[in-house]
Parts: sequence; structure tokens; C-alpha cells
Amino acid sequence: MEVIIKPEAADLAPVAADIVERLVLRKPDAVLGVATGSSPVGLYAELGRRVAAGRLSLAGCRAFMLDEYVGLAADHPQRYRNVIEQELVARTDLVSERVLGPDGLADDIPAACAAYERAISDAGGVDLQILGVGSDGHIAFNEPSSSLGSRTRIKTLARQTRIDNARFFGGDVAQVPTHCLTQGVGTIMAARRVVLLADGEHKAEAVHQLVEGPVSAMWTATALQWHPQATVIVDEAAASRLALHDYYLDVYAEKPGWQE
Ligand code: GLP
Repeated sequence: MEVIIKPEAADLAPVAADIVERLVLRKPDAVLGVATGSSPVGLYAELGRRVAAGRLSLAGCRAFMLDEYVGLAADHPQRYRNVIEQELVARTDLVSERVLGPDGLADDIPAACAAYERAISDAGGVDLQILGVGSDGHIAFNEPSSSLGSRTRIKTLARQTRIDNARFFGGDVAQVPTHCLTQGVGTIMAARRVVLLADGEHKAEAVHQLVEGPVSAMWTATALQWHPQATVIVDEAAASRLALHDYYLDVYAEKPGWQE
């Protein structure tokens, strides 16, 4: 696992955008995995600036979302499909019709989850999955105790996640849906590359666990320790509990130019 530590939260986006840009230059029809939450917002804005500058185009790409709330109306501003539209599609030249997410309004939820898995594999799988991490160590909405081999399915949100996400619902936890559809840990692990962004002191324990803790369903992000190409980009606050903090700085400072 590659760990990149930068001084401030604002320093993460350019590093992640460089990884996206290098992939898309090499493979203009790349399949991107896109996360919601606040962590990737700076990255999406940076991609938007690069597209506007004519340096990058996502027009040939496809994108698959990680997760979706169950039951939020199609026009609800916090429906993840709408969040991605606003934060990523509207800022770049990614084509809206080429972005897919799990259908949180489906009548037949198991069928919708199976169809979503098929759509990802029909697209050839995800080349680059962008991730955040919850304060309880979840990736996508794979809450503690999720199977590390899981695939897209319905999950009940943990109380902590609903409290964390209440800020998007006017601070009212009762407005946060109780259920979601989420790619499984196994789905995420099938992506050819993953890049996880985290900033702030409130992520420090989750980051420590995901990089240095024992692999455990109690911190589902720890499954990434098994991923052959995982990069974790964090600010100093989120890195504050890393035992090997100085080593990660040295590794990045001494990274050979030829190494992706
Ligand atoms: C949310 C999302 C995740 C996200 C995580 C962290 O609940 N389902 O995909 O990575 O929790 O969110 P944030 O980046 O806002 O801290």
C-alpha cells in the first residue's frame, strides 16, 4: 500500500488528479469508480479545472458510483446520483448518461444489485476507484461487520454514519435514510487500482487502522491491505496516528521517477 502524506487537506486533490490524469491520457475510455462524501470534492473540482484548461478530457470515460441511499426521491439533493451530477459531471466533460449508480428506488432490490454488478463487469471492470473512508473505517457503505467478500447489496447504515452524514440533511439524523445500496468490499477490491482520500483528525483512527491495523471486518477499509495497487492520500491531521508516519514520508520523497 502506498501512503502519501501532505501537509493540508487542500494538497490532496492535485496528487489524486495526477493519478486520474495519467490513467486517462493512457486510456481515454477508462472506467472510473466515483465516491460521494466530502473527501473527493476537491479532486472533482481539480479535475474540472484541468478539463476547462484543455489538459484533460473525461468525455470518453465511464463512471460507476459506489453507493446510493434507499428511498430518496429522484430529485432529492442528497441522492448520491444528484450529488455526483453536481460535484463531478457538471464540473467536467464526463457524460451524464455514462455514469451509473445503484438504483435506490428499485422495487426489486436484489435484482437491481445483481444488474449493477453485471453492468460493472460488462464495462470491463473499474480501472480506478476513488474512495473516501468513514470515521468507523467503512468504504462505500460497508459498515463494520460487512463481509470482506461482499458484492453490491442493501445495507443498514450504522448510527455513527447517520450522525456523520446528518450534516448533509440539515443536521437532522432522522432525515438520513436508514438503508443504502452499496458496492461490496469484494466489488471494490476488483477495481484495478484504488485511490483513497482522507483528511482531518476525525479520520486519524480509521486511517491508522486501514493502513496498519489487522485486516478485519470491523474496519472494512483494512481489506485494502490485500489490494495490489492501493494508494492512500492523507493530510497530516488524518496521518497523525500512523506508527510509520516518517517512513511513509521517506518512501514518497525517494519514489523512483519510473514507479507509477
Ligand atoms: C459516506 C460514503 C462513503 C464516504 C464516507 C466518508 O457515508 N458512503 O463513500 O467515503 O462516508 O465521507 P466523507 O468523505 O464525507 O467524510
